[in-house]
Amino acid sequence: MFILVTGANGQLGRSIKSLVKQQKKSDNFVFVTRDQLDLSSISNIQNFFKIHKFDLIINCAAYTEVDKAESFKKEADMINHIAVKQIAEIANRNNIKFIHISTDFVYDGLKDSPYSESDITSPLNIYGKTKLDGENAILSIMKSNAIIIRTSWLYSEYGNNFVATILRLIKNSSYLNIISDQIGTPTFAGDLGKAILNIIKSDKFNAVETGSEIYHYSNNGECSWYDFAKEVVNNSGAKCTINPIKTEDYPTAAKRPKHTIMSKEKISKEFDLKIMFWKDSLKYCMKSITILSLLNKE
Ligand SMILES: NC(=O)c1ccc[n+]([C@@H]2O[C@H](COP(=O)([O-])OP(=O)(O)OC[C@H]3O[C@@H](n4cnc5c(N)ncnc54)[C@H](OP(=O)(O)O)[C@@H]3O)[C@@H](O)[C@H]2O)c1
Repeated sequence: MFILVTGANGQLGRSIKSLVKQQKKSDNFVFVTRDQLDLSSISNIQNFFKIHKFDLIINCAAYTEVDKAESFKKEADMINHIAVKQIAEIANRNNIKFIHISTDFVYDGLKDSPYSESDITSPLNIYGKTKLDGENAILSIMKSNAIIIRTSWLYSEYGNNFVATILRLIKNSSYLNIISDQIGTPTFAGDLGKAILNIIKSDKFNAVETGSEIYHYSNNGECSWYDFAKEVVNNSGAKCTINPIKTEDYPTAAKRPKHTIMSKEKISKEFDLKIMFWKDSLKYCMKSITILSLLNKE
């Protein structure tokens, strides 16, 4: 199988690249950054796929700046919806399989038990709305061969994310105020990357014609941002007090859902995946961050 991964400089793109290298599968994969495939132009996308042929596209690229999207609606819609629709049309015409990543922000967070994939979506912000429009475009164009994976609170060794932010802030602060009334599940991008690589190896995925499906994937368990920050501080060994605050005390441009735990039953059963507990994955990621920073200092 010849596989294209977009968003190669992002958290998930870089995580998949690192896993593929470890598994010595690099020959099957092409990783493209924004410079090589800019999704902000339809003609760019069309020209790219006229020249380059693939069996599978894994779309890790997205407009992920949730607050900025409130003022840059057109830009967010272009990457998260219009470009995704264009890729789905190309995939459908050329019998290419498509794995696309979406978000728990398609939900309004008012359900106090875990969301299942068939629950009603009702995004509270522009980012969530554009991601949902992208999902719907795929499902209306590709009756088969597409997988949409909704994930949440993604972090990794790479780029900007909550763990990196907390590690940066605790260097110069004796205390931090962190929101305690938004509940979700952190997802280590390395775990999601492994799940995607296992899915593409599976018999189910490689069956000739599989109906398009939505799945949820996060780590197991649940926490607030406050719990998440406390765990980062505990693992780091730093001395910094984390104070719980309410959403109202930290106004942001985009409204965020209060409770978006997602059931992973469907993905774990259908692809026989073992899902890690969030605290264990966080520990693993923080060890990798330490190793990477020591290597960079050498
Ligand atoms: N991060 C989260 O907490 C979270 C939560 C739920 C779902 N998700 C979803 O998970 C997926 C992976 O997220 P992530 O955290 O890995 O995202 P990320 O680190 O922000 O990476 C996104 C990548 O998309 C690329 N991109 C943006 N605009 C582009 C354009 N016009 N053309 C081509 N590439 C473009 C970026 O390129 P540059 O590097 O050049 O900017 C970046 O490398 C996304 O679909 C996201 O919506 C993320």
